[in-house]
Amino acid sequence: MKVPLLDLKSEYAELRDEMLAAIDRVCAKAAFVLGEEVEAFEQEFAQFCGTKHCVALNNGTAALHLGLLALGVQPGDEVITTPNTFLGTVEAITYCGGRPVFVDIDPATANLDPKQLERAITQRTRAVVPIHLYGRPADMDPIRAMAQGHKVRVLEDAAQAHGARYRGCRTGGLGDAAAFSFYPTKNLGAYGEAGALTTNDDSVAHYARLARTHGQSARYRHEFVGFNYRMHGLQAAVLRVKLRHIEAWTARRRKIAEEYRRRLAFARLEMPVDDPRDESAYHQFVIYVDDRDGVAAALARRGIDTAVHYPTPAHLQAAYRSLGRAAGAFPHSERACQRVLSLPLFPAMTDEQVSYAADAVVKIAGKQ
Ligand SMILES: Cc1ncc(COP(=O)(O)O)c(C=O)c1O
Repeated sequence: MKVPLLDLKSEYAELRDEMLAAIDRVCAKAAFVLGEEVEAFEQEFAQFCGTKHCVALNNGTAALHLGLLALGVQPGDEVITTPNTFLGTVEAITYCGGRPVFVDIDPATANLDPKQLERAITQRTRAVVPIHLYGRPADMDPIRAMAQGHKVRVLEDAAQAHGARYRGCRTGGLGDAAAFSFYPTKNLGAYGEAGALTTNDDSVAHYARLARTHGQSARYRHEFVGFNYRMHGLQAAVLRVKLRHIEAWTARRRKIAEEYRRRLAFARLEMPVDDPRDESAYHQFVIYVDDRDGVAAALARRGIDTAVHYPTPAHLQAAYRSLGRAAGAFPHSERACQRVLSLPLFPAMTDEQVSYAADAVVKIAGKQ
């Protein structure tokens, strides 16, 4: 049996008629950049997140960048996040001239450890960026409380967490603003690059709306130096089609994850702990094993694809050597990067594929 990590081709085959009609609508109107389709998507996605605003952008890194600028990050400011993330989270801080300050993860959740947050806050801290890694909501209550106490703003990195819930509330409205990615492999994926910023704050939304289109408040009236971070009409049309299916897809992801958990419960491996009060969007299903590369190779021999999210923590990347944080600085993130393995998980995955992959993992990793 073959078990791919995800299967976008079969998803397209299922959505083909809806997609072609949506794409045709955009082409017929020649509304290729921003326009009606983008505005409709903004309304629908804001409604999905339960936020007042959604500003559609060209990718998730741009959403993080504009989010941080909108929250007032200026050159020399410190911005706190974890090193256990995709580098885009950290790059966005650098784009603003900010200094990334890392806080280690809680090994049980893979997300920012709120217990370590307070000591990282200084006079220069302007914002904290909790990441909802793998679709699992970060522990926002203590993060928000600490941020408020120190007048620090909160930008969610929700790139992997469309529709996840923290204490019943959707991601996107859990901080001052939230950045989403619609990269094709995401739970809500465009047919190219796309992203969005969501917020309940009028001034954040206003800034982002202008900043994404060269700082223009009206055609050729530039209020400040902005960017070209606009969403394409075609991507908005694709995302609107997929948004109609996201609830069902997330439910299916969560069912698959439940089955993985049941079958892997007695295997010699660890999994992040789910808080029963929250709902992960299960962008990835990850396990931790000592011989990660050996397990991945043995799964590949059985036709099961895997991936590593992520092999190197941000502070050990060459790109951030200048921060001067050596190996050992963030032990939980470093250990996670050495041991983490993502198993196949996508809505169209069959029950047979799930049990085949899970049973293979148990055989290879052994029983406890
Ligand atoms: C956690 C995280 N942050 C940021 C990004 C950046 O998003 P994009 O690739 O759309 O720029 C991604 C996605 O790749 C991500 O997974």
